[in-house]
Amino acid sequence: MKATSRATSNIAFVKYWGRINEQLRLPMNGSISMNLAAATTTTTVEFDPKLEFDYIHPQSLQLNEKQATRVFQHIDRIRKLAKIDMRAMVATQNNFPMGAGIASSASAFAALTVAAATAAGLELDTRELSILARQGSGSACRSVPSGFVEWHYGETNEDSYAEQIAPPDHWDIRNLIAITQAEHKTVGSAEGNALVETSPFNAIRVQLAQESMKIIRKAILDRDFTTLGEETEREAIRLHVIAMTSVPMILYWNPVTVRIMQAVMTWRNEGLESYFTIDAGANVHIIVQGQDADAVETRLRAIEGVRDVIHSRVGNGAILLNEHLF
Ligand code: PMV
Repeated sequence: MKATSRATSNIAFVKYWGRINEQLRLPMNGSISMNLAAATTTTTVEFDPKLEFDYIHPQSLQLNEKQATRVFQHIDRIRKLAKIDMRAMVATQNNFPMGAGIASSASAFAALTVAAATAAGLELDTRELSILARQGSGSACRSVPSGFVEWHYGETNEDSYAEQIAPPDHWDIRNLIAITQAEHKTVGSAEGNALVETSPFNAIRVQLAQESMKIIRKAILDRDFTTLGEETEREAIRLHVIAMTSVPMILYWNPVTVRIMQAVMTWRNEGLESYFTIDAGANVHIIVQGQDADAVETRLRAIEGVRDVIHSRVGNGAILLNEHLF
């Protein structure tokens, strides 16, 4: 009744922003991402009849009360499905710095889902695991399948899941994550998501995101970097327009964020092709082809205010490991 899983984070080219169902985390639009090999979470779950409560293991990354409650609620979903009532011990570790503003809920809930479902004795396929992970954190459903992944928005629980578009070795695209702040973002994605309908531009963004799905899916399959990059940038800007026009308004960028955006545009005009995308935070994700990655990374590190750069290749989906954290 013990299992360990490792899952990667992911970066979305078409982003999830806004939900039609808060509880089930059904999104307003589909989304497409690549898994990030360099940003992983490893989680061990053990169901134990001797435990009276659910616990976070002392040697685990320590979660605050809100985070731990969310983890235990997810374990509850899995217990219900497996028809067991044993309490669980959970340990988790990230291979990237916490508090650097790198979204960890995608890798965290993908790894938690696979570890807990396996420990509970459930035999679920990728689609079923993706559906479960989505209920823990929306973007986590995209970290279950491997490589380039599409989340079908779906109107019911069963229809809203992620699926592979292409495996990791299909295309050598890199994501360089420029860390621009030491602390966590101020407005979490859950809060931001809940505000979309206060923006007068939300309906048009949802409609345009569905157009972006077609364009980006095809660009990935055709390995058309220019189309992928241009459309990814536009889609990211539209998300931030929604955030900035929400009530109350959310501004995720800091001056370094903008400096990087401008630098990327300049490099592009000079012939070094790269594009940016930004999630619900101030860090900038630069998308670049493998052959240009080192040159872009060197330039990024030279920008004032960039604290660190994480260089990631396309990653696998959530996998089971034989070694446990405890
Ligand atoms: O699943 P959450 O609550 O971490 O939301 C993720 C939202 C974005 O990162 C902004 C976009 C996305 O699709 O990853």
